Amino acid sequence: MAAPALLLPSPIEVVEDERLDAAGVRLLLKRDDLIHPDLPGNKWRKLKYNLDAARAAEASRLLTFGGAYSNHIRAVAAAGALFGFETIGVIRGEAYDPLNSSLQFAVDHGMHLTYLDRHTYRMKADPEVIDQLQRDLGDFYLIPEGGSNALAVRGCAELVSEIVEYFDVICCGVGTGGTLAGIAAGLNAGQRAIGFSSLKGGDFLIDDVATLQRDALGDETGNWQVETGYHFGGYAKTNPELTAFVADFESRHGLRLDWVYVAKMMFGIYDLVAQDRFPAGTRIVAVITGPDFGGQIRS
Ligand SMILES: Cc1ncc(COP(=O)(O)O)c(C=O)c1O
Repeated sequence: MAAPALLLPSPIEVVEDERLDAAGVRLLLKRDDLIHPDLPGNKWRKLKYNLDAARAAEASRLLTFGGAYSNHIRAVAAAGALFGFETIGVIRGEAYDPLNSSLQFAVDHGMHLTYLDRHTYRMKADPEVIDQLQRDLGDFYLIPEGGSNALAVRGCAELVSEIVEYFDVICCGVGTGGTLAGIAAGLNAGQRAIGFSSLKGGDFLIDDVATLQRDALGDETGNWQVETGYHFGGYAKTNPELTAFVADFESRHGLRLDWVYVAKMMFGIYDLVAQDRFPAGTRIVAVITGPDFGGQIRS
């Protein structure tokens, strides 16, 4: 099977903005959203070594977990179609009829969908639940929810080595923490990473990122932090302030931000700049971890 064309290294763009100039801050965008239309951003970074591991294990099927609007489910379905694996998506909650656009995309790319009630879904990492799935569905290579595991951390760390421009701080959105864990792992001494939680009550993510780093690297890198004040009501929630920010950013810079993760990060960066939290001269990289899929807004 021919390897799909991936735009790597992903491009870097400078943001020209008088609010940043006033604070003496330089902002660069790492356009990971452009890597591949169906495998963009952190999706490709996290899946890369998992696909290698599945191949090495001679697995023909990938199984993963996600909510009904999960970008990760979409990406695993696309990866299966592009790289020749069967795919199974285990979806949280009730079956959808008709399917929403994300799940329809997954099915159109060959994914078999199955559903777990919310109680069982919470226990999806337990061996009994996985054994039952294996009895029901046959053998598979398991990719955890959000794709975040030690191999994903390794893939995300590579993003940093693509950046030849000098920078002090790198920022990303946080859902399960794998992207932040990896990016922080790839930094040089003196650089630090800031993750912006899209989830309400995101303090637990500090433990999750630390655990992912210990699993992947044997230790924590201590050069990252999670900002928990920019969730706008929680996962897949927004409010008029965030919606206005997305519209304003698009009119100034011609880029429509994914509002679930990327817009919350970008709002947070501008807010920290306005609070003078970055000394003049700071160079920041914002990772555009995915495109705007135009998902349904639940405010
Ligand atoms: C576009 C985008 N950015 C950021 C994230 C957060 O990544 P992570 O789950 O590794 O924290 C996700 C979720 O995977 C995402 O879809």
